[in-house]
Amino acid sequence: MPEITFLGHSCFLIEEAETRLLIDPFLTGNPKAARGAGDVDPTHILLTHGHADHLGDTVAIAKRTGAPVVAIVELANEISGELGDDHQVLDPNIGGTVRFDWGWVKLTPAWHTAVTPSGTPHTPAGLLINIGGRTIYHLGDTALFSDLQLVARRGDKVDVALVCIGGHYTMDRYDAVTAVEFVQPRKVIPCHYDTFPPIETDAQAFKSDAEGQTDAEVVVLQPGQSHTP
Ligand code: NI
Ligand code: MN
Repeated sequence: MPEITFLGHSCFLIEEAETRLLIDPFLTGNPKAARGAGDVDPTHILLTHGHADHLGDTVAIAKRTGAPVVAIVELANEISGELGDDHQVLDPNIGGTVRFDWGWVKLTPAWHTAVTPSGTPHTPAGLLINIGGRTIYHLGDTALFSDLQLVARRGDKVDVALVCIGGHYTMDRYDAVTAVEFVQPRKVIPCHYDTFPPIETDAQAFKSDAEGQTDAEVVVLQPGQSHTP
């Protein structure tokens, strides 16, 4: 059973047996980061997109740990250029799945924009992750859009959805309730809020609204807290 630890903003660590997946490792410069970039030891790094608040410390952590990186192809190419040819960087596009001995990661659409701090334009994604018999869906940075329903129709019930609720750069906590209706997860962990003033919101109000209007249980984690679904 995978354990999910919220490290602040959009960054999560998912641990299952010997596998440690680090998603969107924005730790340096993140006022809500629960750990420093030198205090994580992932076996894999997964990225939704390359905005600075998601790409974060990816290159430094990958260099130190040797962890392979999964990112959409244009972003993967930029990262691969920084890490060198000997470092494994997997480069799916939207709809693509990469498989590992522990499970798989599929890139899903997300309605957002993206260019890296170095200037590489690319399409942002969500991450559908299967590990330890659980399906975890990190929606990435996204607006509410109706195709979020397609993930629920795939057949693998989403056990945990990691849902942005902060507004301004993504959907807000009201639209996020509809997103939860669309995705139909068993549990929801909100993210991408309260890191900076423009994305301050009331996570407990989101929990109350989402639990009132959907069948999902909302688990609000403070940075550093963990949950096993
Ligand atoms: Ni973004
Ligand atoms: Mn963001």
